[in-house]
Amino acid sequence: MVLPASSANRRLLQPFEGQGLSPPPIWLMRQAGRHLPEYRATRAKAGSFLELCYTPALAAEAALQPIRRYGLDAAILFSDILVVPDALGQRVEFSEGAGPRLEPIRSAKELVRLSPRASGDKLGRVCEAVARLRQDLPQQTALIGFCGAPWTVASYMVEGGGSADQAQARLWAYRDPKGFAELMALLVESSIAYLNGQLDAGADLVQIFDTAAGGLPDLEFQRWVLAPTRQIVQGVRASHPGVPIIGFARGAGVELAAYAAATGVQGIGCDTATPVRQMVAMARDKALVVQGNIDPLLLLGDAGRCEEAARRLVQAMGGLPFIANLGHGVRPETPPEHVARLVASVRASG
Ligand code: CP3
Repeated sequence: MVLPASSANRRLLQPFEGQGLSPPPIWLMRQAGRHLPEYRATRAKAGSFLELCYTPALAAEAALQPIRRYGLDAAILFSDILVVPDALGQRVEFSEGAGPRLEPIRSAKELVRLSPRASGDKLGRVCEAVARLRQDLPQQTALIGFCGAPWTVASYMVEGGGSADQAQARLWAYRDPKGFAELMALLVESSIAYLNGQLDAGADLVQIFDTAAGGLPDLEFQRWVLAPTRQIVQGVRASHPGVPIIGFARGAGVELAAYAAATGVQGIGCDTATPVRQMVAMARDKALVVQGNIDPLLLLGDAGRCEEAARRLVQAMGGLPFIANLGHGVRPETPPEHVARLVASVRASG
């Protein structure tokens, strides 16, 4: 991949050229958001979470806040994986403290409630936030775009919110695989257009969040995780050849390397449970860019032990293409000083 001169000094992109950096680049999933007092002020100004996502000036501001505070190597677009169902016409609500609530869609007949053509306006505003953010970011800071993977987004759409085992989505997929495939196809198509829009607006790379990827039986994992993700990767590469794509298939465990091979992602996000030896093996033997996987609860609970864990991880990944990150998102109760200490310890580790 040949990088345009303007992005050549973005450290986060260098592992995708096969270069292990010392110290490694670092960003954190959910680095923007409720652990920051300045985020809470911006959210109050917006009125609601979705208004914040659809107001480019405020969304760009929320994404810049962790960059100002911590000087991370990448900003991530401020949005949510559930703007896609919202833009498609499903009722989505974020009430403070309660997590997202959606009006559930449980059968193929109900898909008429969704309209792909209506989605452009809202998702266009998210892309406008990307363009603004690129202008406001320091030159050396990479910009990450993202979407939810179809399986995870569908499970929220079908459940009507988060769930431990995605039971309603799995039941629909077992009872009526053809009907469920229609929903998945709609999400694949919308996600490709959405990610391409973010890349056109100035994102350097994208991450696909498949938070609910773990726990599916083999065949369902292939059909509802691997196949749709591969279609998205191909649809994005058709417009943006060689663009770095990170897949975060949370809970995929021993299947992680197979997930990368089947989908074509070059970067593999590792959750907290992924053993370091598996991360080393994927980076060394499979030429993957490995990202992760410090426990967000360690970051919240014990900054000293978290610094130690980060040093050990960086040392184990030494010389390999690696991006330091958490194994899941920053928890809202996390003290910002703990985050600052983690970043400093990774920076001091090279
Ligand atoms: O990483 C970032 O800083 C960028 C922003 C981002 C948000 N959500 C902002 C957000 C990203 C990348 C997401 C992804 C997301 N959203 C996922 C995939 C990754 C993961 O964490 O598992 C999922 C499953 C969601 C769905 C979602 N959105 C939930 C479960 C919640 C409520 C719980 C929570 O942690 O807040 C949200 C709301 C949400 N998304 C908030 C933020 C800042 C909080 C909204 C508020 O201010 O009340």
